[in-house]
Amino acid sequence: MPSQPASTDGNIYWSSRLAFILAATGSAVGLGNIWGFPYKAGENGGGAFVLIYLACVLAIGLPIMMSEILIGRHTRKNPIQAMERMAVQSGHSPRWRWVGLMGVGAGFLILSFYSVIGGWALAYVFRALSGDFAEITPTVANEVFNSLVGDPERSMAWHTLFMVAVVLVVSKGVNSGLERIIKWLMPTLFVILLVLVGIASVMGDYGAAVNYLFNPDFSKLNSEVVVAAMGQAFFSLSLGLGAIMMYGAYLPDHASVAKTSLAIVGADTAVALISGLAIFPLVFAIPEMTTAEGPSLVFKVLPQIFGKIEGGGFVSVMFFLLLVIAAITSAVSLLEPVVSWLVTQKGMARDRASHVAGFAIWFLGLGTVLSFSSWSDERLTIAPRIGDRIFVLVDGKNFFEIVEFLTFSLMLPLGGVMIAYFVGFIASMKATRRQLADSPRAVYSTWLFMVRNVAPILGVIILLNMLGILDSIFLWLGLS
Ligand code: TRP
Repeated sequence: MPSQPASTDGNIYWSSRLAFILAATGSAVGLGNIWGFPYKAGENGGGAFVLIYLACVLAIGLPIMMSEILIGRHTRKNPIQAMERMAVQSGHSPRWRWVGLMGVGAGFLILSFYSVIGGWALAYVFRALSGDFAEITPTVANEVFNSLVGDPERSMAWHTLFMVAVVLVVSKGVNSGLERIIKWLMPTLFVILLVLVGIASVMGDYGAAVNYLFNPDFSKLNSEVVVAAMGQAFFSLSLGLGAIMMYGAYLPDHASVAKTSLAIVGADTAVALISGLAIFPLVFAIPEMTTAEGPSLVFKVLPQIFGKIEGGGFVSVMFFLLLVIAAITSAVSLLEPVVSWLVTQKGMARDRASHVAGFAIWFLGLGTVLSFSSWSDERLTIAPRIGDRIFVLVDGKNFFEIVEFLTFSLMLPLGGVMIAYFVGFIASMKATRRQLADSPRAVYSTWLFMVRNVAPILGVIILLNMLGILDSIFLWLGLS
């Protein structure tokens, strides 16, 4: 009989270690892997980005994944209460709950644009159904995408549908239904992606793609690439806002935190890399395409792969449907912390909390919808002058880019740094050791070393860097 841990609001528990892995993988694998990774890699020069990304996944992502799971399992509470309780237990301030609260805010912001992109994927299910991708040319693929996002009403309608689906799942309570779906979703998605890689390698320039992704050009490396890769690692692994902590609260006692984390991190990274290998062969074979296409990259390239194959209509419907479902299982883990906060701290009923939060997030999402049409030229620059130096904090970003920047580059890494610091220095070692008791001692000491050093140091560097402070320190030291 699997253990049945106490739950915070009686709605989630995983029946086994596998069930937890499925749920956490369902959270991790989503638009971030298939839409985000290829476009970020393309915008940031390929190999150098990928290398830093992989380094961040291993050196920061894996230890923080373990940390979130162990905090969750130790306290069996939602992230806010979990941070508070574990801090108080070890004689520290209850204010650590603010890490959980920031996570609620980050989930809120991320979901607002996530739902818009999820809406695009949903729209593509119907495009695929109507056979629009057969024999599609690059020009037509461009038109299909631009007419969708350039029309705020259409884009908003799909965003609305996506959000309604997410609210429905969360308002009913995340439960074994999700578990069952993810069990077949992940393997099928994996297989389809591999098939796409196969086709892309025949149709496109596979060698150029591999070279681009895995042969780093270090001249492309700068602080922006590092920040982008680090943000992408957090985002793709669902780390930094307590989503995995929340699921960890329901992990059975006998499951290994280290092995479980490794499985999730491995699966998530594999899906991202495979998506890159499916997209880039074509990017290099089509003269009209550039790697720095931005958020539209995947939506313009994939239909062209489907258009070229026998039975492409069916495969494309399947693919976009699976992508939508993968996006929903991720979105659920973004909405759940917000809802759980309203339920446990604000005393709202789950149904009502889901509707209220869902509506507010939907509304904020309209800003992202408009960022791709009427507001695309509304840009914000913040560059205060301090002394004789100008600090460029925001360099001409539109609404979507601001929300993305706030979450990817600021809130998630900051959350990650706080969590790492917390388990490394605040939580009692007895408690953390007990959570990792089934792993060899070396695993524990390596983990402790990582959370105490690498993660916070990198976190601080990247934060300073982002604020332009690092550049100024270098300048001040006469180093640049
Ligand atoms: N990881 C998901 C993706 O790649 C998105 C996501 C879900 C997420 N939950 C999260 C990102 C929590 C950061 C934090 O699509």
